[in-house]
Amino acid sequence: MTDSHYREKTSVLISREQLAERVQQLGEQITKDYAGQDLVLVCVLKGSFMFTADLVRHIDLPVRVEFLGVRSYGDSTTSSGSVQVTQDLTRPVGGAHLLIIEDIVDTGLTSDFLIRQLTARNPASTKLCALLHKPARSQIDVPIDYLGFTIEDEFVVGYGLDVAQLYRNLPDVCIYRD
Ligand code: IMP
Ligand code: MG
Repeated sequence: MTDSHYREKTSVLISREQLAERVQQLGEQITKDYAGQDLVLVCVLKGSFMFTADLVRHIDLPVRVEFLGVRSYGDSTTSSGSVQVTQDLTRPVGGAHLLIIEDIVDTGLTSDFLIRQLTARNPASTKLCALLHKPARSQIDVPIDYLGFTIEDEFVVGYGLDVAQLYRNLPDVCIYRD
């Protein structure tokens, strides 16, 4: 791929303006819901780095941010169903209110795994915030407490989401067609 071909296979699905508006709404809702509580955002790497960076700026509370690296796909565009932790949290989270920040809930297997893993560390609560949900491919029902957008069964890239590690830097969520 040359630089000039970088956007050839993508078309905008959710614009940067739509993302900004929805992320602000989510941040304001989270601010209301967690007022007075010990809140820890768990940014699930790599896909939710951009979403977390924007969201946290709309959360007007004392909040901690932790990072959890997982790999669920390899470099293919379909789920392998297996989840591997590539980087763990750096601090204990017992007694804290955890909010997992995910880029997308597709089959639901990754989020389900993360909720179970984190709940085992005795937090006060564990909830899930996902930018995107692709219900067509759901294999397991995970409760999404805060959701940005529901999308059709399309593979999307940009705003943190990748295909084979590329396209994360696109400012819009785009449909990718090979
Ligand atoms: P799940 O375990 O199938 O729900 O998928 C979770 C992970 O797969 C997400 O955190 C993404 O990293 C990746 N994923 C699922 N669907 C897409 C997509 O359409 N584009 C990019 N990554 C995706
Ligand atoms: Mg990915």
